[in-house]
Amino acid sequence: MGLPLPPKASPLLSVSLFSVTILLGSFPFAATAADYTTLVFKGCADQKFQDPSGVYSQNLKNLMSNLVSQSSQKSFSNTTSGQDPNAITGLYQCRGDLTTSQCSSCVGKIPDISDKLCGKTIAARIQLSGCYLRYEIVGFKQVSDTQFLYKVCGSSQSQASGTGREFEGRRDAAFNMAEDGVKSGSSLFYTGDYQSVYVLGQCEGDMATNECGDCVKTAFQTAKDDCGDSISAQIYLQKCYISYSYYPNGVPTVSSSSGTGTKQHTQKTVAIAVGGVAALGFIVVCLMFLKSVLKKRSGKHEGY
Ligand SMILES: *[C@@H]1O[C@H](CO)[C@@H](O)[C@H](O)[C@H]1NC(C)=O
Repeated sequence: MGLPLPPKASPLLSVSLFSVTILLGSFPFAATAADYTTLVFKGCADQKFQDPSGVYSQNLKNLMSNLVSQSSQKSFSNTTSGQDPNAITGLYQCRGDLTTSQCSSCVGKIPDISDKLCGKTIAARIQLSGCYLRYEIVGFKQVSDTQFLYKVCGSSQSQASGTGREFEGRRDAAFNMAEDGVKSGSSLFYTGDYQSVYVLGQCEGDMATNECGDCVKTAFQTAKDDCGDSISAQIYLQKCYISYSYYPNGVPTVSSSSGTGTKQHTQKTVAIAVGGVAALGFIVVCLMFLKSVLKKRSGKHEGY
């Protein structure tokens, strides 16, 4: 985007790329109504607003309350608050299987979480299991739709029953189903299961269905590349996310799956790119490439 940056923020804008790996117990992958407000990850820019007049804080507050109020009507909204050069743009997306009241209670939790976890940063994304919200100052560096953000890789397939090839075949079939599902439907959301493999795909509400198909395809490929033969995984890209989970005894039904999942250790990785002006884009691309090479390399030695 070619828009000018707020002069007060400019000296502080620099490229930052951070990556955090944490180990946590897993939560159920098959979505249940009860768990949709679980925090999955946060991405906070490391610059705060330079805001002596309080105008950014006010714009952020207005943006949040505007988005929260829209979430009681629709599952996606994108809006901008304030005047250039202090404008902030943001959006939320609810998971396609949430009711409007679940959507609004999910999105409604985010302003406080964002304030607590990120504070007054110039850009942030809070991802809960049922919804996410992201915002940025207008003019913030744009990343591609398929920019990798976060992953959770479950335990490896060899620990589960069944042969590897069989599992991989089922998983591929489930992935294809989901890709076709988001392309052929109108909701940019798909869940289904194929022979004990549960799969979910969700795209951001302003995407065309074919863009959505391409995005989830990239996410599935990332799952294969980065999570190997994990029996479950979640991959979050900038504008879409996917998850899958293999249930050797059959996919539990949504209404009865709560609390029955076995605990397993999963590896979670966050790589949120936050940046400054477009001129720095090239450096960012180089850094990301380097980062992804390093990550792939280190990923081979971790987690199993
Ligand atoms: C909202 O949509 C506008 C216009 O398409 C876009 O410029 C802006 O970046 C979007 N906001 C976010 C947070 O993606």
